Amino acid sequence: MPEFMRACVIGWPIRHSRSPLIHRFWLKEYGVKGDYEKIPVKPEELEEFLAGLAVNGLRGCNVTIPHKERAYEIVARANSSGVNPMGRRLKAVNTIWLDEKGRLCADNTDVHGFMANFRQRQPQWRAKDQAVTVLGAGGAARAIVAGFIDAGVKSVTVVNRTGEKALDLAAEMGPPAAAARLDALPALLEKTDVFVNATSLGMTGQPPLSVPLEALPAHAIVADIVYAPLQTDLLRAAARRGLKTVDGLGMLLHQAAPGFEKWFGPRPEVTRDLRELIERDLEGA
Ligand code: ATR
Repeated sequence: MPEFMRACVIGWPIRHSRSPLIHRFWLKEYGVKGDYEKIPVKPEELEEFLAGLAVNGLRGCNVTIPHKERAYEIVARANSSGVNPMGRRLKAVNTIWLDEKGRLCADNTDVHGFMANFRQRQPQWRAKDQAVTVLGAGGAARAIVAGFIDAGVKSVTVVNRTGEKALDLAAEMGPPAAAARLDALPALLEKTDVFVNATSLGMTGQPPLSVPLEALPAHAIVADIVYAPLQTDLLRAAARRGLKTVDGLGMLLHQAAPGFEKWFGPRPEVTRDLRELIERDLEGA
């Protein structure tokens, strides 16, 4: 292994990414000589950037909006066996590395990120017989639906502003995923054990999210993928009702761990110290 190792996160825009904070925390924690930076890469530059990773002294990168789907296509074309099963299933990747022969490899660690955080925050939760409702049908929703299916829940029902996208997502994932109309949400929530907001609604600068939480049973868990603000209106309302909640920050922290291991060696832990560091940064933003 070279003395000094480098990785990065690429996106367009990339200014607000917290990934460097997370990886630099771990580099220090595990005594690894290396760095992790943010690099703005425009969509039309993506292919060239990925082809030039080694030349530029990079061991790999995280990929964020809007590159996840295109990065999947590029890696799958460059190295037909290089995309791990989860990346192939979602046709989107967020973590890229070079194997010992310098070939591009990729995975989607959002699924692991969401489920690892969910289980860490709700350790008593068991998948058996659980009915999950996911609001949203974009990239984040796909990862979350896949995660709950693999965990073995009874059902995952997708609802979305654009109903067709919910139908497509459910059809692609197959049973126990299904789609429901947005106007059926109140009735659906009455039979929901876990509700997840997988849209950007409620994020700072985005429209507010309105969900009839009063319909949920008293034992329900409410999760949000939004982490800025950390305590979204949805989570506040759920907590006021006495429901259990899972915030979005943990998903960001946990999805980063497999990439760190690929590039730098140690499998890092998501600790309270790391979480507090990112929380402070979010508060100061
Ligand atoms: P991501 O990859 O982060 O999931 P995305 O693929 O753009 O991002 O998906 C965003 C999700 O938020 C979608 O489900 C979107 O609904 P549509 O499919 O109808 O676009 C949802 N969303 C975004 N803005 C919304 C709004 N104002 N009202 C309702 N849903 C919204």
